[in-house]
Amino acid sequence: MLPQAKAEWRKLKALAKQPPDIRRLFAQTPDRAKQWALEGGGVFLDSSKSRADDNILAALHSLARAAQVGEKLRAQARGDKVNFTEKRPALHSVLRAQAPPPAVLRELNRAIQFAEDVRAGKISAPNGKPFTRILHIGIGGSHLGPELLRDALAHNCESAPEIHFVANADPAALFGKLHNLNPAETLVVSVSKSFSTGETLENSRAAKSWLENALTPDNAKKHLAAVTANPAAAREFGVPENRVFKMNDWVGGRYSLWSAVSLSAVAAVGEKQFRAFLQGGREMDAHVLEAPDEKNIALRMALLGIWHCNFLGAQTHCVVAYQHRLRGFARYLQQLTMESNGKRICKSGGESKADTGEILWGGEGTNDQHSYFQLLAQGTRMIPADFILAQNPEDENHAEAHRNLLAHALGWSRALMTGRSFESAHAEALARGAGARDAKKLAAHQECPGNRPSNILFIPRLNARALGALTALYEHKTAMQSFIWGVNAFDQWGVESGKKLTREILSAMSGAGGAEQLDPSTRMLLAKIQAD
Ligand code: F6P
Repeated sequence: MLPQAKAEWRKLKALAKQPPDIRRLFAQTPDRAKQWALEGGGVFLDSSKSRADDNILAALHSLARAAQVGEKLRAQARGDKVNFTEKRPALHSVLRAQAPPPAVLRELNRAIQFAEDVRAGKISAPNGKPFTRILHIGIGGSHLGPELLRDALAHNCESAPEIHFVANADPAALFGKLHNLNPAETLVVSVSKSFSTGETLENSRAAKSWLENALTPDNAKKHLAAVTANPAAAREFGVPENRVFKMNDWVGGRYSLWSAVSLSAVAAVGEKQFRAFLQGGREMDAHVLEAPDEKNIALRMALLGIWHCNFLGAQTHCVVAYQHRLRGFARYLQQLTMESNGKRICKSGGESKADTGEILWGGEGTNDQHSYFQLLAQGTRMIPADFILAQNPEDENHAEAHRNLLAHALGWSRALMTGRSFESAHAEALARGAGARDAKKLAAHQECPGNRPSNILFIPRLNARALGALTALYEHKTAMQSFIWGVNAFDQWGVESGKKLTREILSAMSGAGGAEQLDPSTRMLLAKIQAD
């Protein structure tokens, strides 16, 4: 933890020695739910089923103040070089501002206009026909954000081009798609901030060859586009100048879905929805930057996450979106949170003595109730969960089914808190005629400890604006936690080095040397690959 926050950290350690039972908190304070409810930026947060009382929450806010979270948030928003290892700002919020800097707005609008023209058929393939398919090639932040937007918002867009995402180096990913695509009507968009990511370059080269084998080289070029912070490399690859759309180097990959990176998603969902998405993010920014600390929903989530993780020993954090169209949201949040806060060295240069980075996982409700909820309910670990719900159905004709969906989520949030007592399980077993010994043995296995925390997040309904608010909310939560842990949320040296390791193995595989430098395990495995 930060040196200036040692006293606050010690106080929270002391409070954690006797953490409250959530059930008792409600018994002691009947209107706790109302007191702990927050609303802002279009999101309603019920954090009352947390293992924290008012005293703990106050101590958490003292920690935030000692860590200067507010000051650091404002420094980020005004463009200070908060990415202190790459000496860059982290200004992705500028992309969703009411009035971005002219050069940024011009480039973003150019990408949006291109997407709209493709969508409307104004920009067509050389044969004069519209591009009915877009092959989006990109990975990490150059994939997950655009796919999240497409999954959440493209459902009512019949006349739009179909987007096919390819990220994996596994040739099955690309060739499985190419097999079902017609090159004459497919636009290939290569998305890569660096334009040096191996998977994306390999897949782009293969897709380009696929186009060239079917079309003339000249026409093939007219099926290419790129989004990158390295336009020279894209032009070098063969993308026509007017099809290269720029992103700024102060937009991190995992924060880039607000930028031209989402070009293919804009073609699928339309400019109107994309701008509503930006608006939702902007409204959440306003809430987070203006709300008093105690009313700030991003800060509340950040602090409760730190409380459960650093003080109550929660090893992971689960996010379940009770919306089929948000089925990829947890996966999107994995890169956002773990590539941001999966760091061990603080700004001071010293190693963090506290765990950093929430290990975030999760998925889609109600599906996941039939997958890992057993562990949430009766496992040995307390795993805090966020349940994300839309208060209203997309279509009033499905109101009853939607209520049923909400009942699942609220039921599970309640069940994780209340648990199931041994006594009630025992009484039920006896009532069903079980013998005394059997009833006792069975009840032990049926008991659920309860006292397991969950946040309920309500958006009014799932639309572009609400998705923008949710996405910005988790961005701010992630940044606030990094400010408290003292780590840099905006670099990713660990995975940069990973890219180098692959090159070493490839060099050894191709016999270009270097195998002798590798460890015995790797050498044995390489030998096996080459022998079989
Ligand atoms: O995982 C490392 C990383 O650099 C991410 O930060 C990024 O989103 C992804 O790889 C793809 O990088 P690029 O957009 O430069 O291809």
